[in-house]
Amino acid sequence: MKILETIAAFKAERDKIGGSVGFVPTMGYLHDGHLELVRRARAENITVIASIFVNPSQFGAQEDFSSYPRDTERDLAMLEEENVRLVFMPAIEEMYPQGFSTWVEVEKITERLEGESRPGHFRGVATVVAKLFNIVQPDSAYFGQKDAQQLAVICRMVSDLGLNLDIVAVPTVREPDGLAMSSRNIFLTAEERKAALVLWKALCLARGHWEKGQRDVASLRQEMASLIEHEPFANIDYISIADPETLQEIDVIDSPALVSLAVRIGGTRLIDNTMLGV
Ligand code: PAJ
Repeated sequence: MKILETIAAFKAERDKIGGSVGFVPTMGYLHDGHLELVRRARAENITVIASIFVNPSQFGAQEDFSSYPRDTERDLAMLEEENVRLVFMPAIEEMYPQGFSTWVEVEKITERLEGESRPGHFRGVATVVAKLFNIVQPDSAYFGQKDAQQLAVICRMVSDLGLNLDIVAVPTVREPDGLAMSSRNIFLTAEERKAALVLWKALCLARGHWEKGQRDVASLRQEMASLIEHEPFANIDYISIADPETLQEIDVIDSPALVSLAVRIGGTRLIDNTMLGV
């Protein structure tokens, strides 16, 4: 496995690779969710390339860029174990050199949910991902359904700009009790860790009611909200039941629906989602 820190050094290695390339972009502090993307890429391609880059432009001024967890040595050992061929690990100045002034803005679907709570977030994500795609030149890139809106934004960007690669969606990997794996779970205290399960419980509650025939979005949302409100550590940012492609809220579930939520557990903001009707 080779670790490349500059675009030039990376390109020199990339040029030597023939056959299909699967790409897994990450911000590091890897867990089994990330590794699932790598394994899927491994199964579907001759070569797997990963990137580790904590992208400052997708963090708001009040967000956790400087405290975002990092453990490069451990990350690299995990990627090596999974037979990753190249790891692109640029410094901030390599991705955003002096004078950098070109941004990718995906409109409409970025206006709600994460985009509304985190202004500028998806502009940072779309820009860095577009740049990584150009540098890595993958045949396929792997993204987690855990970040459902991010996945929708990337698909929109690839389609709108005619980028020449496939986007593969990988199901969310969970802890045994149901909590979605996330690099940010490390911030939870033992008590908060227990409280964090409320996101999964709320999603299961919605699914349970839906399975029994409930189709009214307002009542499902209300049931979820009252479950979460009973958890003293939890503060709801949003609960959404929306069309999975447009992310527009719906009133009645009569086709597949994306149920997603963002909840603050103490000082840590967690997101999760599930699809109903697929
Ligand atoms: P990061 O949060 O490190 O996530 C990297 C990839 O892993 C994303 O596609 C994310 O959806 C996926 N992932 C995270 N947790 C997962 C889980 N429990 N199960 C399955 N997949 C999971 O997302 C980012 O980084 C950044 O925004 C990035 C795309 C790298 C751009 O900077």
